Parts: sequence; structure tokens; C-alpha cells
Amino acid sequence: MVGLSYRRTRLSGAVRELTRQVRPAVEQFIQPLFVAETLSHREAVPGLNKVWRETPDSLLEQIAADLQHGISKFLLFSTPAHKSEAEFDHAFTAKQLAAVKHEFGDSVWLAADVCLCSATTHGHCGILNEARDEVVNEASVDALTNAALAYAGAGADCVAPSDMMDGRVAAMRTALDANGLQQTVIMSYSAKFHSGFYGPFRLAADSAPGNATALRDRASYQIDPARPSDALLSSLRDADEGADILMVKPGLPYLDVLAELSREIPLPWAVYQTSGESAGLNLLAREGLADLGRVNVEAWVACLRAGASMIISYDARHAQHWLSQQNDR
Ligand code: PBG
Ligand code: ZN
Repeated sequence: MVGLSYRRTRLSGAVRELTRQVRPAVEQFIQPLFVAETLSHREAVPGLNKVWRETPDSLLEQIAADLQHGISKFLLFSTPAHKSEAEFDHAFTAKQLAAVKHEFGDSVWLAADVCLCSATTHGHCGILNEARDEVVNEASVDALTNAALAYAGAGADCVAPSDMMDGRVAAMRTALDANGLQQTVIMSYSAKFHSGFYGPFRLAADSAPGNATALRDRASYQIDPARPSDALLSSLRDADEGADILMVKPGLPYLDVLAELSREIPLPWAVYQTSGESAGLNLLAREGLADLGRVNVEAWVACLRAGASMIISYDARHAQHWLSQQNDR
């Protein structure tokens, strides 16, 4: 009997290239961007690699630079100067979205993150009850829907609710359609877990839930890491409510969820490589323990294997360079 060889197709660069089943490509990436009203100069986000809290001017300059590196899809997080309990002014964010679309038109695809945590005094993703120990669903959904309308009206190609309230996708789809915004895509953070991997982001978006309320964390609205079936139910529900794109977040620690859900629900799936995941890889590389490009590409390949068709990554702007370095012959 002749022994089977699996090594024949590993021996040369040529045959390895031919036999790969997933191939990350720069066009699959979405680059998150931060803009803050209070800044006069842009500031680097701690832990991340060339990610800044931009000013309105530097935001446009950064997008122009990213376009040079093949990145044309963006997810904007905007932090207004004024914080509130329940009355939110969307003018600053809407103005930034309009400015980006005015400058770059359809050469960029622009998604707006929709949440309230950068605008609330307490840093929660919705409106609190009077006792300040609970996020109330209906009032929060109304406020989120107003934000989505303002962002889509300003020209965002996509609105991406990250708040985890019940029913926000249906409310947004109904409101968008009723206001002539039938073409605006909804990308729902449908499987967003209550994770410890969001650290650098909260500094960047100024959105950490503080000590000002009895509610210290987001466990009462984000999915428990030990309940994958909740992620399936929430994603089925969001699909039913009209979400166009679903998402698993974080990425690597939840690949099992991505693999199962993307097989179960035939919609496009996004994966969010969170700020903590990116920062972890940066630290490995900084300690000389890993090649930053190599480990990022390996993480991206894993996300594609698990069924993602798009990757939201703080390192998207390095993808073209890092992917070209992985060519192994
Ligand atoms: C807030 C929001 C978070 C992220 C996106 N939108 C953090 C959170 O829920 O606390 C995570 C981003 C990241 O860590 O990269 N709605
Ligand atoms: Zn939030």
C-alpha cells in the first residue's frame, strides 16, 4: 500500500497558493475612524497602531491617505462635545459624515456607528431610568432611531447600531424607509458580546460607563460570553427585522460563534477585530515575540475561514502592505 502524502501540496509556494481556500483581500476591509469635537490636534489612541482620535480636518486627510492604501470602506465613531442624559444633538456627527461624502463621494463607502455611549453623561449605550440602575429599551430605541435618521440623511451609506437594545433594527428600517432612505444599509452588531476586549476603544470614543450610576458595566444589554445561543437568537431576530449585514464581535475569541451563525443565517457576515485584540497583537510584536503583519494576517484568515465576508480592523490600513508580505515565494 502506498502511503498518502499530504505534503506534496505543501512543498512549493506555487502549489500552496493554488490550494488555499481563503484569501484575504484589501477590498474586504473596513477601517474604523474616530472623530471628536473637542480636539484641536489629533491624538494617538493608546495601544493601537497608527489610529487617532481625529479632528474634523485630520479626518479628511486620514481618509485621503487610506485611499492611497486601497482602503475605501470606513466605520465612523464620532464623539460630540456636549454630553446629555436624554436629549442628543446629532449635528456634529452629521456634519462630519456630510463632509466626508462631500469630499470623496462614492469613492468611499461610509458606515456610521449608531450608539449613545459617546453622547451620554454616564457612558451607557442608552437612556437610564430614574433610579439610574437600568437602561430603558423604548426611549433608547427612539433616540437611536433619530440618530440613524440624522446620519443616513447626512449621507452615510450604512448605519451600524452597536447599542444592543431590542427592536432597534426594525425601528430604524421603518424610519429610514419612511424618510426616503430606502437605500441605506443596516449593519447590525447582532452578536456583540459583553467583552473585556474593548479597552482602547473606550478611551478613543470617550464611552466607558463610569461610576456615576449603579450600573457599572454593559452586562444587562450585551451578550454573555457563555451564551452562544443568545447570539443566534439575536442574529435571527435582527435578520428578521431587516438587517442587511450581521456581525460577530469580538473576532478571535468568538470564531466558533461566527462559524455556526454564518452557516445558519445566509446573510453577509462582518467580524469586528476589536481594539483589545489589535492591542494584544501590537504588544506581542513590541516585545519581539511576533511579527505584527504575520499574526494579523493569520487572525484575518481565521475570520474568513469561519465565514466572514468583511473584516472591521484597526489595522485595515496596513492590510495591503502586510498581505503583500505574506507571499511566500
Ligand atoms: C459602543 C461600542 C464599543 C465598540 C463599538 N461600539 C464598545 C463597547 O461596547 O463598550 C467596540 C470597539 C472595540 O473595542 O474595538 N457601543
Ligand atoms: Zn455604545
